[in-house]
Amino acid sequence: MPTPTPADKFSFGLWTIGYNGTDPFGGPTRAPLDVVHAVEKLAELGAYGITFHDDDLFAFGSTDAERQTQIDRLKGALAATGLIVPMVTTNLFSAPVFKDGGFTSNDRDVRRFAMRKAMRQLELGVELGAKTFVMWGGREGAEYDAAKDIRQALERYREAVNVFGEYVTDKGYDIRFAIEPKPNEPRGDILLPTVGHAIAFIETLDRPELFGVNPEVGHEQMAGLNFAAGIAQALYQGKLFHIDLNGQRGIKYDQDLVFGHGDLYNAFALVDLLENGGPQGGPSYDGPRHFDYKPSRTEDENGVWASAEANMRNYLLLKERAAAFRADPEVQEALAASRVPELSVTTLAAGETYDDLLADRSAFEDFDHDAYYNGKGFGFVRLQQLATEHLLGARG
Ligand code: GCO
Ligand code: MN
Ligand code: MN
Repeated sequence: MPTPTPADKFSFGLWTIGYNGTDPFGGPTRAPLDVVHAVEKLAELGAYGITFHDDDLFAFGSTDAERQTQIDRLKGALAATGLIVPMVTTNLFSAPVFKDGGFTSNDRDVRRFAMRKAMRQLELGVELGAKTFVMWGGREGAEYDAAKDIRQALERYREAVNVFGEYVTDKGYDIRFAIEPKPNEPRGDILLPTVGHAIAFIETLDRPELFGVNPEVGHEQMAGLNFAAGIAQALYQGKLFHIDLNGQRGIKYDQDLVFGHGDLYNAFALVDLLENGGPQGGPSYDGPRHFDYKPSRTEDENGVWASAEANMRNYLLLKERAAAFRADPEVQEALAASRVPELSVTTLAAGETYDDLLADRSAFEDFDHDAYYNGKGFGFVRLQQLATEHLLGARG
């Protein structure tokens, strides 16, 4: 069984292993988790990093002294274990003040408060060496169409993040921003609901190079989308700055299951893309493999650590299966038969002009399109069956 090491770059949100089981229909089933204990246990399990919202480390409304005590305790635990903080984020969704959002609340005073809160956490992230600041706008959105002018909400969000981009540039900070899309929950509709919306929005910013996405498995799947395909486009556009790994079983509330406990096929395709999708068949992404999941409400603390271990184990098992898939000569032969590599060949030959194309009778006048009826099958099902057999451990 594969054993995780910091070289695998697995990181966990403090809010994940720290999830106490509270849901809209019931209170906590677990006692609070102390950050020092969390860091020590994650290090013991082979993790490489821990991430957190300000409010995860010190309660909303803490005094500066209470805040500093918790920061110092975290720093001590990091120093003692070697765990690092690759990413930080801020909570602009729990406190009542954010009931209509943070950066896009209709209330301007709340928007200014939200920016200050985010900038304070940004400073702490820089102090701790974080390279990514994630922004999940969980409360940015609405339940009623007339309540939120979407264009103005986008403009206010743009205004806020443009200021952050200017701020880190002026300060010379080595940190980038990753927008985390989600279609709904807690808001009826959340602003920037999918990877596509977020990538399009980033292009409107003053410093788009400082902004990317932090896609989450379950969030795209809540919208009925193929997560691995969304990651492929984020990679294609150079915008995969971070990633939230978990599991989701269909279009329902955000389950935040253990990675691999949802759509296993898509998890396989994702790990294959991240680990084998690079230029020479190596990794296509070198950032943290971050788990944003919730240990089920049913579990006790032993169950929490078993679930943390399960995330990493599933990732490493899928990495092994994907490597075997790619190394399998029959898979290589099936990929060729399905003409997958041919998609990388440009449709016009080097130097070919549209006049050359228009003059090429084999491309149209003499093209035998009828041959595709009752013939010229692509053999994709065979390819999927090979993937299935690798997934099931039925092939070497
Ligand atoms: C969720 C989100 C959050 C964010 C976190 C970091 O559905 O609750 O995934 O867990 O990832 O706020 O920004
Ligand atoms: Mn989520
Ligand atoms: Mn998330």
